[in-house]
Parts: sequence; C-alpha cells; structure tokens
Amino acid sequence: MVGVKSTNIKWHESTVSKEDREVMFKHKGVVIWYTGLSASGKSTLANAVESSLHKMGCHSYVLDGDNVRHGLNKDLGFSPEDREENIRRIGEVAYLFAQAGIIVMTAFISPYRSDRDSARKLNKEGEFLEVYTRCSIEECEHRDPKELYKKARAGEIPEFTGISAPYEEPTNPEIIVDTDKLSIEESVDQIISYLREKGIVNC
Ligand code: ADX
Repeated sequence: MVGVKSTNIKWHESTVSKEDREVMFKHKGVVIWYTGLSASGKSTLANAVESSLHKMGCHSYVLDGDNVRHGLNKDLGFSPEDREENIRRIGEVAYLFAQAGIIVMTAFISPYRSDRDSARKLNKEGEFLEVYTRCSIEECEHRDPKELYKKARAGEIPEFTGISAPYEEPTNPEIIVDTDKLSIEESVDQIISYLREKGIVNC
C-alpha cells in the first residue's frame, strides 16, 4: 500500500477524449493484461499479437516486466510488497496508455489476484482483458530460456515464482491461452479473434 503524499493537486480533464482518439485510430483503447508463470509465453505472445495488430494498422504497445524493471521499476525486487508496487505502477501506466487510445499489452507475472484486480478496477468494464498464459510449471521449467528455474532450484534465486513464491491462477480471465498446447500462430489467432468479436478492432 503506498502512502499518499501529494496535496493541493487538482485533476485536469483532457481536451481530447478517449472516444475522440478511438474514432481517429479506428479501434478501442484497451489494456490486455497477460499473466502467467515465468517462461509461460507472456512476452512472446504479447509481441506476436503486437506484430499482427501493427500489420492491421492498430496502435499498440507492449510493457514487458523485464524491460520495465530496467527503468521505471528498477528500485523494486520480488518481495510480495515490491511485486504489489510493480503491478500498481504498471496498472496506472497501462490505464494511461488505454486513455490515449492505444491497445496496451502488459507482460508481467503479476502473481497476486488482488494486485491484478486492482489494475482491472482502474478501467471501465470491457476495457481490461486478462489473458492467462496457462502452462504447467513442468513445461516452464523445461523451457527455462533464461535458466532461472535452474538457479532457483539451486537456491540461487530466492522467492522465485512457482518454486519458492506463489502464483495465484486467475479465477475469471477473459481469455485462457494454453501455451503448452497451442502454437504461437494459434495463440495469436485466439486473441485477435476475441478482439474482433468484442468490436475492439474492426479489421
Ligand atoms: S512480477 O511478479 O512482479 O509481476 P515481473 O513480471 O515484473 O514479476 O518480472 C518477472 C521477471 O523477472 C521474470 O521473467 C524473470 O526474468 C525475472 N525474475 C528475477 N527474479 C525473479 C523472481 N524471484 N521471481 C520471478 N521472476 C524473477
């Protein structure tokens, strides 16, 4: 929980509304929130979806956990409190991107249900889509592209999600992508079809 220190501040409405921007961009501004274990395919999928959206002429952006932790969130580690703050900041940033009319995709483990729900609550109904990249821990550990599971098993990384720190599965995500069963192309199709079905994109 962050302390509120700002006083004497006033909210200024944008002169250009979200709807005005959406008319110009010809698609909705939404948050697509990918959650799942490390190596479950969040970043890979978000980037592949972004390539498709880009070809379709949509304005999108990927906020990736590893990248954001190099800058904005480099002061945060992996304790439950730091993960909460990580997700709180990204939830706020993602909300702002969506207000700017962009399809923003966040790829963070975001292991705690309550933190994801707080990010969801910033947005209107239908403007926050939770995508669970579902993949067994065995498969993630087998993939281990950054050899982090190996290090975590050796006790070299404390509080590693799925090994020595919890991951709370989403109870009611908009989309579940079984990344250990589907190809990347099939997974991308699943997301793009959903966006078309809901009228978020029109092409
Ligand atoms: S989150 O839990 O706060 O949402 P985030 O997605 O930002 O995590 O960062 C996860 C990435 O940090 C992993 O993909 C991995 O590369 C790296 N990492 C380093 N230490 C840990 C750890 N203890 N638990 C999970 N991921 C870690």
